[in-house]
Amino acid sequence: MNSALAVAARLGTITPQDSLQRRLCTLNRRRLTPGLPHADWVDEIQQQAHFALLEGRFLETDRRATAALCSKLPEDPDEFLAWFESLAKTGPGQNDPLLEWLAARASMEDMRWFLTQEIASEAGFEDLVAHVQVRMPATAKLEMARNYWDEMGRGRETGMHGPMLAEMSTTLGLLPEVEATVWEALALANLMAGLACNRRYAYHAIGALGAVELTTAARARLIDKGLRRLDVAPPARNYFTLHGRVDAAHARSWNREVIRPLIVANPRLRTPIAEGALMRLLAAARCSERYRIVLWGGRSAPPPVRRVPRVSTASDVAGQMPHDASRANPSRIRPSPMSLR
Ligand SMILES: [Fe+2]
Ligand SMILES: [Fe+2]
Repeated sequence: MNSALAVAARLGTITPQDSLQRRLCTLNRRRLTPGLPHADWVDEIQQQAHFALLEGRFLETDRRATAALCSKLPEDPDEFLAWFESLAKTGPGQNDPLLEWLAARASMEDMRWFLTQEIASEAGFEDLVAHVQVRMPATAKLEMARNYWDEMGRGRETGMHGPMLAEMSTTLGLLPEVEATVWEALALANLMAGLACNRRYAYHAIGALGAVELTTAARARLIDKGLRRLDVAPPARNYFTLHGRVDAAHARSWNREVIRPLIVANPRLRTPIAEGALMRLLAAARCSERYRIVLWGGRSAPPPVRRVPRVSTASDVAGQMPHDASRANPSRIRPSPMSLR
């Protein structure tokens, strides 16, 4: 491919998947952004209904892909939890060599391209939890409240997780844009939002959020290691430092307080929870595969001489070093997940 796909990943040859995922981004931005009454509300609802049908087909396609992987789920709650936790080591996309490479060898330009995609694929965990917790039983709801409170920095703005990601984006001069994002990364965000915003997938969302907690710590530690190697200052990599530290505990609590009580009360929920977790892991694996194609030029191992796609960034514009926060141009940066420009 390599250069052709790298170019397509940024500029597009627009594929049907690109078009679909960009439309679903529009759907999610509109339904999640606070608004006001307006004259075109009938048209808006009709368009959203059309997009919601596209979303339903997308979610069902991804759900069908999990069938073989969860055909024999353990019936005993503790055995089911052991199976669920094993996904962190043996689930789809785990131990991807891309992350070790980011930690040990990737250039700053590689890392910035990767992080730009990552920001686009981040759907805003706290908002997803807030949607999913509606009318859940007390034990599960309380754990979701504790998780949400952690996301909110336990009431301190400086401890909120979302702004930490924004700080990294600003410092590195990233410009996350739909048009510069591979469809697989958009699909990951659209999957999480679709599961959380449609009540028919409420238990799938619980599985998917649990899979995020289960797999983020190891991943965040490797990204943090790569950023440290590239001399990115601690405040800018705090999002990854923090998640490398806290998500293992979040995963244990989620499994014990959310998943276990739900499946004890209703064993049939094992299937949607398992499907949701696998949907998330398969979608994340799909992202990593595309990232390797772009960053490694389609090779199964990194190229000896690095050829990397370039992403226009604020620091490019300003002619500055990407990790120099003091000279970055924050006015050009919109690092907000789920609201890509
Ligand atoms: Fe978080
Ligand atoms: Fe977490």
